Amino acid sequence: MTVLVFGGSGQIGHYLLPLLSARDETVMALSRIPRAPTPGVVWMAGRLPDSVPAIDDISAIISFGPLRLLSVWLSNVDLPHAPRVIAVSSMSAESKRTSEVPAEREISQQLRDAEDALAAACARHGSEWTVLRPTLIYGVGIDKSLTPIAQRAMRTRMFPLPMARGLRQPLHAQDLARAALAALDTPAAAMKVLPIGGGERVSVGEMFARVRRSLPVDTLPLPLPAWSLRVARYGVARLRGPLSRLDEDLIADNTEVTRLLGIQPRAFRPDADCWRPPA
Ligand SMILES: NC(=O)c1ccc[n+]([C@@H]2O[C@H](COP(=O)([O-])OP(=O)(O)OC[C@H]3O[C@@H](n4cnc5c(N)ncnc54)[C@H](OP(=O)(O)O)[C@@H]3O)[C@@H](O)[C@H]2O)c1
Repeated sequence: MTVLVFGGSGQIGHYLLPLLSARDETVMALSRIPRAPTPGVVWMAGRLPDSVPAIDDISAIISFGPLRLLSVWLSNVDLPHAPRVIAVSSMSAESKRTSEVPAEREISQQLRDAEDALAAACARHGSEWTVLRPTLIYGVGIDKSLTPIAQRAMRTRMFPLPMARGLRQPLHAQDLARAALAALDTPAAAMKVLPIGGGERVSVGEMFARVRRSLPVDTLPLPLPAWSLRVARYGVARLRGPLSRLDEDLIADNTEVTRLLGIQPRAFRPDADCWRPPA
């Protein structure tokens, strides 16, 4: 039996591939670029949605790649057996639904459309699916959210600290990888969209303060008071979306992932390794 992984080269895949390869299954992972050998994993070159090599006997598909492209591929490909499908969407599907910024509402709609398209494509194969909707992901120094901020602060020795009201629930990529694996083994998680966030909700200001404290170098704190964020929000059009989000809660209810999958994500206590890409 073969587990096919999309997005295995990303931060969630970094933790999932060793867990998967420890099981008695063939693991095939697809990447758009050549990858260094990984123990227990067969890397294939390809890309969603129209350049995925044919593979015999796929028992499961786990995807951390683009959800819409996965659904396009699944709705066109012929598979001899119905694979179990685990895919990652985003809590933005819900949290940006009523954003004041039209482009953000559009992202939310696109994510929900992609989730619906995935369910329809799975129905075509008779496959059971689970969609995980994570909050902000961090953990291995290759995310595009907190790591660039941490790395810039280490370079400049200055750390801007926005004093914003919104709550955040950063999720460690390893906890998400464990949830994906648990979903594979849990029939009760089938046909469900499961929100998943970190084990702790903190304000935006506290989240950045913890990142700053985790750095291996001293940085000068630069508090950005709420009034300055409001001025920037209304004065600079391209900042409106990101800054308006700072006062919104981007959180997830973990009740179902804990009840169904037994996953209890860790609290947000980052250390310096979280911002250092793997060698
Ligand atoms: N980062 C977050 O905070 C966050 C929050 C909520 C939800 N999410 C969702 O979580 C998933 C992973 O996000 P991430 O930030 O962890 O991503 P990432 O580290 O940037 O990884 C993206 C992965 O997708 C693969 N990929 C991209 N385009 C592809 C294509 N056309 N065909 C096949 N594979 C493709 C990449 O593989 P190659 O480069 O090797 O081809 C890479 O492994 C995404 O669905 C994202 O929307 C992320």
